[in-house]
Amino acid sequence: MRSKAKGLVRPLITKPVQPLSSHMHLFLLSLLFLSALFLTLSEAVCNLQDRESLMWFSGNVSSSVSPLNWNLSIDCCSWEGIICDGSSDSHVTMISLPFRGLSGTLASSVQNIHRLSHLDLSHNRLSGPLPPGFFSTLDQLMVLNLSHNSFNGELPLEQAFGDGSDRFFPVHTIDLSCNLLQGEILSNSIAIQGAINLISFNVSNNSFTGPIPSFMCRSSPQLSKLDFSYNDFSGHISQELGRCLRLSVLQAGFNNLSGEIPSEIYNLSELEQLFLPANQLTGKIDNNITQLRKLTSLELYSNHLEGEIPMDIGNLSILRSLQLHINNITGTVPLSLANCTNLVKLNLRVNRLGGSLTELEFYQLQSLRVLDLGNNSFTGDLPDKIFSCKSLTAIRFAGNKLTGQMSPQVLELESLSFMAISDNRMTNITGALSILQGCRKLSTLIMAKNFYDETVPINEDFLAPDGFPKLRIFGVGASRLKGEIPAWLIKLKSLELLDLSLNRFEGSIPGWLGTLPNLFYIDLSDNLLTGELPKEIFQLRSLMSQKAYDATEKNYLELPIFINPNNVTTNQQYNQLYSFPPAIYIRRNNLTGSIPVEVGQLKVLHVLELLSNNLSGSIPHELSNLTNLETLDLSNNNLSGRIPWSLTSLHFMSYFNVANNTLEGPIPTGSQFDTFPKAYFEGNPLLCGGVLLTSCKALSRSPVTTMNEEDEELKRTFIIGVAVGFFVSYCFYWCFLARRWA
Ligand SMILES: *[C@@H]1O[C@H](CO)[C@@H](O)[C@H](O)[C@H]1NC(C)=O
Ligand SMILES: *[C@@H]1O[C@H](CO)[C@@H](O)[C@H](O)[C@H]1NC(C)=O
Ligand SMILES: *[C@@H]1O[C@H](CO)[C@@H](O)[C@H](O)[C@H]1NC(C)=O
Ligand SMILES: *[C@@H]1O[C@H](CO)[C@@H](O)[C@H](O)[C@H]1NC(C)=O
Ligand SMILES: *[C@@H]1O[C@H](CO)[C@@H](O)[C@H](O)[C@H]1NC(C)=O
Ligand SMILES: *[C@@H]1O[C@H](CO)[C@@H](O)[C@H](O)[C@H]1NC(C)=O
Ligand SMILES: *[C@@H]1O[C@H](CO)[C@@H](O)[C@H](O)[C@H]1NC(C)=O
Ligand SMILES: *[C@@H]1O[C@H](CO)[C@@H](O)[C@H](O)[C@H]1NC(C)=O
Ligand SMILES: *[C@@H]1O[C@H](CO)[C@@H](O)[C@H](O)[C@H]1NC(C)=O
Ligand SMILES: *[C@@H]1O[C@H](CO)[C@@H](O)[C@H](O)[C@H]1NC(C)=O
Ligand SMILES: *[C@@H]1O[C@H](CO)[C@@H](O)[C@H](O)[C@H]1NC(C)=O
Ligand SMILES: *[C@@H]1O[C@H](CO)[C@@H](O)[C@H](O)[C@H]1NC(C)=O
Repeated sequence: MRSKAKGLVRPLITKPVQPLSSHMHLFLLSLLFLSALFLTLSEAVCNLQDRESLMWFSGNVSSSVSPLNWNLSIDCCSWEGIICDGSSDSHVTMISLPFRGLSGTLASSVQNIHRLSHLDLSHNRLSGPLPPGFFSTLDQLMVLNLSHNSFNGELPLEQAFGDGSDRFFPVHTIDLSCNLLQGEILSNSIAIQGAINLISFNVSNNSFTGPIPSFMCRSSPQLSKLDFSYNDFSGHISQELGRCLRLSVLQAGFNNLSGEIPSEIYNLSELEQLFLPANQLTGKIDNNITQLRKLTSLELYSNHLEGEIPMDIGNLSILRSLQLHINNITGTVPLSLANCTNLVKLNLRVNRLGGSLTELEFYQLQSLRVLDLGNNSFTGDLPDKIFSCKSLTAIRFAGNKLTGQMSPQVLELESLSFMAISDNRMTNITGALSILQGCRKLSTLIMAKNFYDETVPINEDFLAPDGFPKLRIFGVGASRLKGEIPAWLIKLKSLELLDLSLNRFEGSIPGWLGTLPNLFYIDLSDNLLTGELPKEIFQLRSLMSQKAYDATEKNYLELPIFINPNNVTTNQQYNQLYSFPPAIYIRRNNLTGSIPVEVGQLKVLHVLELLSNNLSGSIPHELSNLTNLETLDLSNNNLSGRIPWSLTSLHFMSYFNVANNTLEGPIPTGSQFDTFPKAYFEGNPLLCGGVLLTSCKALSRSPVTTMNEEDEELKRTFIIGVAVGFFVSYCFYWCFLARRWA
């Protein structure tokens, strides 16, 4: 005991005793006394057994930041992260080493630190299982925080303590979130039957299975926060949770829970947050839920809930977040919803709601920022009253049956940044655009599938000099719109994504599109465009330079966007702009002329689809400069000449289609070209070799079948690099890019 004492006191008394004067004796004695007093008063010197246990503990961990200063020449009560109590043989009561870069395992020796009341090892990289008997031996523990580590295995069974004995455990906080723990949470795997003070229990973000435990509601009357989210819990939600009468937060989202929400939950009058999304819950949301007057957040999205929105939902007057999207909810939006005057976020997207919204007193919702009523069957006019919700930043009504015109009142929404009203029955696109261009913060405007057969205003001065000052995403696809590509688009200097597909735009593609500095996604497919591909669009700054592309913010979208670039049946959901590929889609128009060699400058481009036009000339070998290209579709044109061998250097290219042209000569080999299906080369009678398996010699009378020198040279250069590169990039694609698309 007392490492300090060894160092300071012992040399004094073990010194060979010399004959001394009585004064000297007295002086030394008082010095001894004073120093002893000094030691006991100001220096807590730590308990030997605790020190030993800590040494064991530190022997099993190492830090990537800097080593712990735990060394024997320092009193262990002064070690980093250690706090002792004030008792005479100073027991360690607290170990607090969050964010310390620790890896290794948790030695069972910590269990010998009997007075330990706080153990916080959160945000480290500790792994391995929790030591057996962990909870029952640490019977003074009040706070346990092992969150954000890599602890794995099942929770230790507490043999010594499965007997329902009435031992008392003072623990009030258990945070095991964000680990790799698994198995069921059984009543004898955590010694918390005796934990009558337990307030907060968080096991979110693990791989626990079985039913969500509720036994603690029997023993822990103070329990206030329960978090089971992001695990693999299954089965029904136990009605026993209804006994946790102090519960304020119940989170069990992103599991596999099934069955109905037990009505006992509706007795938890202290409940503030009920978070059960992304499960398999069925049944109705009972009107009794409106007894939970303290509810601020009700999130039950992505389940199979049916029935109607509780009629008295307006009783939840302090509700801030109501998210019931992606369920099977029917009926109308109850008028009482207008009494939820604190609502900030309301999401009812993808349900079977209907009726008109014009009666709802939206003006009472002055805090509402995000409103998503998309993909239901709402009818009637787009409700003007919505524009009195002054805080709105994002509105989605897409996928309903709303009629009418855009109201000038929308200009009252000074923060409006996101508006998606596609797939409704709105009319008067000229009116809509001339009003909406005054929304100073509008960044995303998607109005596809409305305004059918209308003519779009095209004059440059249609747009005021400060019109649409912030517009980044503009989509008006699939509306059979007539006219030319509007000249006023040239003023949208912030534009990043432009979708004009599936309309009847005529005329040629204007070269000035290439001057929009941030544009990286263009879809002009399925129009009636003619003329040549202008060189200028191959000078788009964001597609030429990765630096320019990266310079614009692409993380944030107030609501996800749903776009369907390949006209497949399911829309793809994009939660951020980053998920959109840098792409040029000009499918199915009537473009003529050749593909400009300038195409080789778009180094950032991932997708180039020019299929089904009347393009002629050869495939420019400059395309091999596009090292990020994943998809190249030039099928159904009149392209001639050879497929440049240099394209084999495009290691990310996983789709290459040139069917139905008049190409000739050998198909490149020795790269991913060997993996493209035959069908992507069909309809070119003079192509040979490669995946077609036809001999190029058979066509040897044609002068083109012998390789020219350039091709030979290129072939030699690429063939070796490609063999290696292909496998590396294939792996890279699946490990990284494929995930990005997931
Ligand atoms: C222990 O700490 C002392 C004082 O900080 C230091 O001088 C010594 O080098 C340390 N010993 C070890 C082994 O780290
Ligand atoms: C801690 O380290 C000791 C010796 O280095 C080892 O025997 C023991 O198994 C380790 N404990 C754990 C829990 O890894
Ligand atoms: C656990 O620690 C983390 C990080 O130090 C902290 O954010 C979290 O709030 C703690 N958990 C509890 C329940 O206090
Ligand atoms: C549980 O832990 C997670 C991750 O540490 C945290 O995000 C969440 O807010 C916690 N839950 C509660 C109810 O505090
Ligand atoms: C709703 O609450 C009332 C009274 O509080 C009760 O009689 C009724 O059984 C409850 N309904 C359900 C489905 O729990
Ligand atoms: C919605 O209900 C219909 C009919 O009751 C059912 O066929 C469908 O599977 C349900 N959808 C979901 C997502 O639960
Ligand atoms: C909103 O609450 C007030 C006061 O409680 C009530 O008079 C009114 O009927 C409620 N409105 C709706 C639409 O339920
Ligand atoms: C279209 O909207 C504008 C602006 O609101 C309006 O002036 C015009 O009359 C509308 N046109 C039709 C045909 O309704
Ligand atoms: C897009 O898909 C829909 C439904 O799958 C189909 O009816 C329509 O013809 C397609 N449009 C084009 C241009 O391919
Ligand atoms: C494309 O243009 C050519 C001539 O310019 C014309 O003959 C042909 O009908 C057009 N095709 C379509 C689908 O418009
Ligand atoms: C191909 O890339 C190089 C280097 O980035 C560039 O200098 C060259 O101009 C590009 N070639 C074409 C045809 O764009
Ligand atoms: C090529 O043309 C044939 C016949 O018109 C058609 O069946 C085939 O789908 C086309 N191939 C591609 C890839 O478009």
